[in-house]
Amino acid sequence: MSTKEDSYKLLTSQIQSLMEGEEDLVARMANAAAMIHDTFRFWWTGFYRVQGEQLVLGPFQGPMACTRIGFGRGVCGSAWQQQRTLVVPDVEQFPGHIACSSRSKSEIVVPVLRDGTVIAVLDIDSENLATFDETDQRYLEQIAEIIAR
Ligand code: SME
Repeated sequence: MSTKEDSYKLLTSQIQSLMEGEEDLVARMANAAAMIHDTFRFWWTGFYRVQGEQLVLGPFQGPMACTRIGFGRGVCGSAWQQQRTLVVPDVEQFPGHIACSSRSKSEIVVPVLRDGTVIAVLDIDSENLATFDETDQRYLEQIAEIIAR
């Protein structure tokens, strides 16, 4: 049986080679979201792009979601503000969490940085509590770095 770590290793190398032929950021995010989602069958996997003072919904897989999130708002806006990954084991315990879906129970948000500036966030939601750990964080940060390169 393959472990989560094995799945992430394969996924990361597939994303890495796929990105080599494509420079457009939206195209890169679109395929990366599809591949992450397809591998782990999370509830929602997608990107929000920084557009001025807001995060605007970008390529994603899963049900429809809120389209705009302010700086410092929700988990996504907080990860943008703090320029670091936020792992939320129980979204109900996160003050200001934005519930796009009542079925989302835990969440991880990884900033996508270019030259030290957050240009987007990768947001993943799970229907189960405490889905995400340091392994998810480590590989998703690598994936965010590959996308921004
Ligand atoms: N829960 C997020 C909003 C985005 S949706 O989960 C897709 C947040 O609190 O920022």
